[in-house]
Amino acid sequence: MADQNSEQPLVVTLDGPAGSGKTTVARMVADRLGIAYLDSGAMFRAFALRLGARSWTWSEEVLRDRLDGLEFTLRGRGGQSVLLLNGEPLGEEIRREEVGMWASNLAKVGVVREILKQAQQRLGAGTSLVAEGRDMGSVVFPQARYKFFLDATPEERARRRWLQLKEMGVEEDLDALIANLRQRDEQDRNRPIAPLKPADDAVIIDTAGLAPSEVVEKIVEIVSDAPTVDAENTA
Ligand code: DC
Repeated sequence: MADQNSEQPLVVTLDGPAGSGKTTVARMVADRLGIAYLDSGAMFRAFALRLGARSWTWSEEVLRDRLDGLEFTLRGRGGQSVLLLNGEPLGEEIRREEVGMWASNLAKVGVVREILKQAQQRLGAGTSLVAEGRDMGSVVFPQARYKFFLDATPEERARRRWLQLKEMGVEEDLDALIANLRQRDEQDRNRPIAPLKPADDAVIIDTAGLAPSEVVEKIVEIVSDAPTVDAENTA
C-alpha cells in the first residue's frame, strides 16, 4: 500500500512513553491497514542486549566498530511482522526489564541513534509501515502524513505492564515497575538528542480508560482515506 498523495510507502507513526499501550495498538493498526509493523524500541533493545551493560559509556569509535555490519530487515505484516537482525529474528530476551533500562541508556548516545535512524528510514523507504517508538514522528519520519502520540500516567502504564508481564508468567513488584517507568520517562524525555515528545503535528491520545480497540478505531478513522489492503509488503 502506498500513500495515495505521494506514491511513497505509507508511514504511520505512533510514539509515546513506555507502557502507553502503543505496542498493542500499533500491531492492531498495522493489521487493520495490512501493512508492516516496525518496533523501533526492539532495535534499541537488540543493540543493548548485544553490547551489554555500560556499553553507553564506550567511545563513539568503539560503538561504531561494534555496530558495523549489523543489519535489520522486516518480514511480513500486521501483528505477524518480524524484525530480523542479520537474518535472525530478535529473541524474547530483549524484553527483560534490565535490557529495557540498558536500551534507554544506549538511546542517549548520538551515534547509536544515528545508526538506528538510518536503518529505520531505510525500512520505511521500502515498505509501508506503522512505526512505533519515541521519536518516529518528530525525528525519523518527519514527513509522515499520519502521526499519533499515546500517553497515560506512570501508575496506569505500570499497572498495564504488570498485567502484561504476569500473562507472560513473570512476577514483578508493581512499585518497582512504577519507579522503573518514572526513571525511564525521565531519561527518555530529558535526553538532549531526540527526546520523547510529540511531533508538532501529532494527534495526542490519552489512553487512560480506553481499551486498545478504542484507540485503534480513533487512529484508523483518521487514516481512513488510505487504501486498506495490498500485497506489497510480504517479504
Ligand atoms: O519501546 P521500548 O520500551 O521497547 O524501548 C526501549 C528503550 O529504547 C526506551 O526506553 C527508549 C529507547 N527508544 C528510543 O529512544 N527511541 C525509540 N524510537 C524507541 C525506543
